[in-house]
Amino acid sequence: MPPSSPDVLVLGSGIAGLSAALGAARAGASVTVATKSTRPEGASTWWAQGGIAVARQNPEPFQRDIETASSDTSDPAAVEVLTQHADAAVRDVLIDTLNVDFDAGGDGAPYDYGREAAHSADRILHVDASTGKHIHEPFLAYLAEHPKVQIADGTAAVGLLAKEGRVRGARLASNGTIAPVYAGATVLATGGIGALYGHSTNPAGATGDGIAMAARAGADTADMEFVQFHPTVCIADGDPFLISEAVRGEGAVLRDAQGERFMPAVHADAELAPRDVVARAVERAHERTGQVVLDVSSFDFETTFPDLQALCESHGVDPSTGIPVVPAEHFLCGGIEVDTRGRSSLEGLYAVGECARTGVHGANRLASTSLLEGLVWGLRAGATAPGHEQPATRSEEAVQTGDPPAPDTLQSAYDRIQAIMDEHVGLRRTPEGLARAQDALRTLAAEVEPHAAPDAPPVGHELQSACTVALLVAEAAAQNEVSVGCHYVTDPGDAGDPVAA
Ligand code: SIN
Repeated sequence: MPPSSPDVLVLGSGIAGLSAALGAARAGASVTVATKSTRPEGASTWWAQGGIAVARQNPEPFQRDIETASSDTSDPAAVEVLTQHADAAVRDVLIDTLNVDFDAGGDGAPYDYGREAAHSADRILHVDASTGKHIHEPFLAYLAEHPKVQIADGTAAVGLLAKEGRVRGARLASNGTIAPVYAGATVLATGGIGALYGHSTNPAGATGDGIAMAARAGADTADMEFVQFHPTVCIADGDPFLISEAVRGEGAVLRDAQGERFMPAVHADAELAPRDVVARAVERAHERTGQVVLDVSSFDFETTFPDLQALCESHGVDPSTGIPVVPAEHFLCGGIEVDTRGRSSLEGLYAVGECARTGVHGANRLASTSLLEGLVWGLRAGATAPGHEQPATRSEEAVQTGDPPAPDTLQSAYDRIQAIMDEHVGLRRTPEGLARAQDALRTLAAEVEPHAAPDAPPVGHELQSACTVALLVAEAAAQNEVSVGCHYVTDPGDAGDPVAA
């Protein structure tokens, strides 16, 4: 069990949580990072492929690209913070502190800046197409040696200690005990919501825990309807794996079952259109013709993307014949509403990374900005969080955890959540479907409530979180009648997105 009262308690160990820990430790605070994962692969950061965008001393065009990709729904002040701090944060933490060896360019150029969809310039630092693990592993190793930081893995947060609008830590479960851990500030960095959908690029533990805990404590959430689907996910033997947008940046094109390239008729930027546009077009072409493949024949795929070649081969897919792709859930643009320092609406509670809604992404996130947002907001929240007093009253007791729900019960509840979200709260939504989704999720939430009793083991709390967050997404989607970015509402039978029909 971690120490009982760090200055800053960070929940989650992807790039956002680790950056928050670093920022707080640099400010002299004692930090505990509690993470339910037991392996680096438990964090979405580890899986990130394409890379991390930087401004290259030219933040304005980067800012414009983010705003355009979001259909001008992002918050300009938040985007300015991101783009103005991008270069310095990447240089300071990733290059100078962690020595991440980003790929070099040709002719002795220090970096090979990649291009992805909806970027107007080459500005993405990467390590092959496995950038995430090359950042995440040295970051974990660096903090494991840091005298101010303790990392408690296999330690799941099951609720916040909140009283009268002030968060004072969290209840943490490990080794059969749930114990209160009081802290001056609590930083949520618990990642996304992939487990709510049948197919996702997220690791399995992405159940939206931080968002659910924050919402239950009374924190504001925003933009929850904006769930981003990645257009090019290959599913082999039921196992989804991402084919990075960098592949389309390199010249790969999308073809339907008849071999027709359909994106030029959909958007002027064709395969490099914003992600929401490409995802809906892929779904429609799939429905119309039965298959969509990513044609990589215009360049030497194996040499350019050796990691992805190996990943395809390990799944029995031969890229030279075209990689079959479908859209799959990838990223939640909304989340716990925070300011430019990661402060939520509750005192002492911060949120960073995918669980946070900073306003950077608006209705649709630009490629390769998620690691950057986690880094920049993590550092800023971490530097701010040590300013809170330790809570004076400590009344909660530790409890032994009870029995988990039967595996069949858990599985069937997740099956129901995923079926509801896939059918009614996916890429295209209808008012009727969203109403049905809310009814079904409310029924399910009542059924799973007993599995999240105060002494319930983490799996019961996770299930309740998944239900809570699914309902938040469905409710937000039902309340927003305007189709924009990732939120696309159509009448039943409507041909929908005219350009993508
Ligand atoms: C990708 O490599 O296509 C994913 C990058 C991202 O989600 O930003």
